[in-house]
Amino acid sequence: MAEHVCPVWIGYLLASPLRKLFQNPRKMLSPHVKEGMKVLDIGCAMGFFSLPLAEMVGFKGKVICVDVQAKMIESLERRARKAGLSDRIETRLCRGNSLGLDELKEKIDFALASAVVHEVPDAAVFFSEIHDTLKPTARFLVAEPKGHVSEKDFEVTISIAEENGFKVIDKPKVGKSRVVLLERV
Ligand SMILES: C[S@@+](CC[C@H](N)C(=O)[O-])C[C@H]1O[C@@H](n2cnc3c(N)ncnc32)[C@H](O)[C@@H]1O
Repeated sequence: MAEHVCPVWIGYLLASPLRKLFQNPRKMLSPHVKEGMKVLDIGCAMGFFSLPLAEMVGFKGKVICVDVQAKMIESLERRARKAGLSDRIETRLCRGNSLGLDELKEKIDFALASAVVHEVPDAAVFFSEIHDTLKPTARFLVAEPKGHVSEKDFEVTISIAEENGFKVIDKPKVGKSRVVLLERV
């Protein structure tokens, strides 16, 4: 696990509905997520994005939520049960140095990594593993917090994504974030 992984108490703050005032999951994700899709939410924490994603993919879709911390996953599972969305959400506890998604090769329609890349120990491995799960031309939205990630560091992240099989499609504007929309090439 990376040394600077997000503490669980921050997970509660990140799941706050007040965050929707500047980061609205539906607005950010509805252009990319359709009913019936199989979606990845990497570094899902307590599910600020996972639950809206589960609503968007509908009863025929699936959201695969991956995190390195068991307490984040447990909280997400409780929140999903409460929202009646457990059947659309699959949770996975991963190791810090691998997402462990080998059997999902080319099965995923869309992936999200919000506020995660700066916490992973090796961004090249991270992008390469996600690349392998995506269907050809599937999209991957990466958001990083402006407070933790400089513009220069975000450009480095984008270069690593490009070196690992992605091209840049767009840089959407989202509050307090640096965001890039990638496509699998
Ligand atoms: C800052 S939180 C962001 C949570 C969520 N994506 C959001 O935007 O609300 C980062 C999350 O990524 C997880 N994480 C950190 N390193 C990871 C890794 N190597 N693999 C998977 N998850 C990781 C942390 O445990 C934490 O839950």
